[in-house]
Amino acid sequence: MSDRKGIILAGGSGTRLFPLTLVMSKQLMPVYDKPMIYYPLWALMLANVREILVISTPHDLPHFRNLLGDGSQWGLSFDYAEQPFPGGLAQAFHIGDDFLDNSPAVLVLGDNLFYGQEFALTMATAAERHHLATIFGYHVSNPEAYGVVELDETGKAVSLQEKPTQPKSSFAVPGIYFFPADVCRRAKTLQPSKRGELEITDLNRLYLESGELFVELLGRGTAWLDAGTMDSLLDAGNFVHIIEKRQGQKIGCPEELALNKGWISPRELKMSIEKLGNSSYGQYLESLLP
Ligand code: TTP
Repeated sequence: MSDRKGIILAGGSGTRLFPLTLVMSKQLMPVYDKPMIYYPLWALMLANVREILVISTPHDLPHFRNLLGDGSQWGLSFDYAEQPFPGGLAQAFHIGDDFLDNSPAVLVLGDNLFYGQEFALTMATAAERHHLATIFGYHVSNPEAYGVVELDETGKAVSLQEKPTQPKSSFAVPGIYFFPADVCRRAKTLQPSKRGELEITDLNRLYLESGELFVELLGRGTAWLDAGTMDSLLDAGNFVHIIEKRQGQKIGCPEELALNKGWISPRELKMSIEKLGNSSYGQYLESLLP
């Protein structure tokens, strides 16, 4: 079992979803049949990470606490911390320093959704790579909206750009990043960018420059969606709906994964089902009981 700890960053301004996010953080909104944050949480569980810090705004953190509790219902342990203002993704390692306590870490963005045949293995393998940082590359049609990684012909990363007007490749860097135990120390050396944020791309670049960055390409059989705009929120919901309806199996169901991993017993799952009442989600969990 990994001693790696996880951070879900679920704050931000959410301006691209205004006016909805004036009421509620986007990561609390549903992507089809479950809250958005369940999907990045599921990715951490696939990486065998069980101690997780949820970071959000002072306004929204109590709602996350109500939703997720202490994590024991999924065999996990949750801590919570406020991000008073959206100071950038790498700020997670300032806020999460005490929580991480020199453990290797994985940071996932609260509005990112991953799905695919190889993805579970990819997560578990990255989690075991203790002495290197691991980030991913994913071919997209609009790399200028993301961090972009350029690779040489041997597949080695040669440059990283943040939301470039002229991207050097079509490989965007998805919102899940694995770091060695020194990540908080390195994050503290970062200076805010022109837009006033501690950039994850700058943190990744430190590992690139020291020869400690491993970049794995996620193939076209893997879906990476981010649900941060009106269109992508709807697309993500439709994606989950189509796959779940076709397969009769859920994407991003933490109860199911916890049961499969042996982190909760069928008896503990039954207790969760009782709380969910007669919902379709509850009925699905019922069908998982032996
Ligand atoms: P962004 O895509 O920068 O999104 P945002 O919510 O800040 O909003 P917008 O650009 O629409 O105004 O961030 C990606 C994810 O990271 C998203 O889930 C919000 C989260 N985030 C934080 O929690 N803290 C931060 O400081 C930043 C920059 C983002």
